[in-house]
Amino acid sequence: MRHTIVAGNWKMHKNAAETQQFVNDLIENMPNGKEVEVIIAPPFTNLLIATQTLEHTNIGVAAQNMHQAEGGAFTGEISADMLKSVGVNTVILGHSERRQYFKETNALLANKVDTALRHNMRVIFCVGEELNDRKNKQHLNVVYYQLKDSLFHLPKSAWNNIVLAYEPVWAIGTGETATPEQAQEMHQYIREQIAIQYDKEVAENTSILYGGSVKPENSKEIFSKPDVDGGLIGGAALKVEDFVNIINNG
Ligand code: 13P
Repeated sequence: MRHTIVAGNWKMHKNAAETQQFVNDLIENMPNGKEVEVIIAPPFTNLLIATQTLEHTNIGVAAQNMHQAEGGAFTGEISADMLKSVGVNTVILGHSERRQYFKETNALLANKVDTALRHNMRVIFCVGEELNDRKNKQHLNVVYYQLKDSLFHLPKSAWNNIVLAYEPVWAIGTGETATPEQAQEMHQYIREQIAIQYDKEVAENTSILYGGSVKPENSKEIFSKPDVDGGLIGGAALKVEDFVNIINNG
């Protein structure tokens, strides 16, 4: 069901001790009575610390990536089963840094999505255009093919386990944020494409998060847009105070 989610993507930040400190502080400072689902996505090595410490809370834990194979000779990789065995049921797939630095393609990501869903995991699937795409007015088109090539083969029922995150690459870690209007335009477009491919019900039930330089100061306005259902936060999710302030704006 569509609802507001605030998720923190830690990327390659925080060691074990720092993770423990963060989750302790987050538990202590979690706002009461907010109807916002809160998720943190620490690096693999800290997932177990997070799931164990957060077990009896309503704060969720996601992984930042996952391999598409069930297992085997893939040095350095992590499988869906491994994630589930440490209590992780959500995985971020298709982040632009995975696409850019690790050459993950739409076709590969379709495979990863299939594997995650086969394991009953929920996927936070990232899409987003690069600056040149936007300059050339190709942003809608680029995002359309990311959706089509990685997700539109799924049956309707699978969409219960799909959350989308629109992250314009030019706004990630740059301090530059899409205007609330630019975010709304893309989110509305994405929802329309889901409605065309499936139906209105699937489109209305899918949470679409915005990511890219979200901060306490700009989160309220971005989250207030009708098709924006919260955020996927990078840098500002690393400080409990900022993260909690963003949750409060959800
Ligand atoms: P920043 O919030 O640091 O721009 O990162 C966004 C992001 O990539 C979240 O996945």
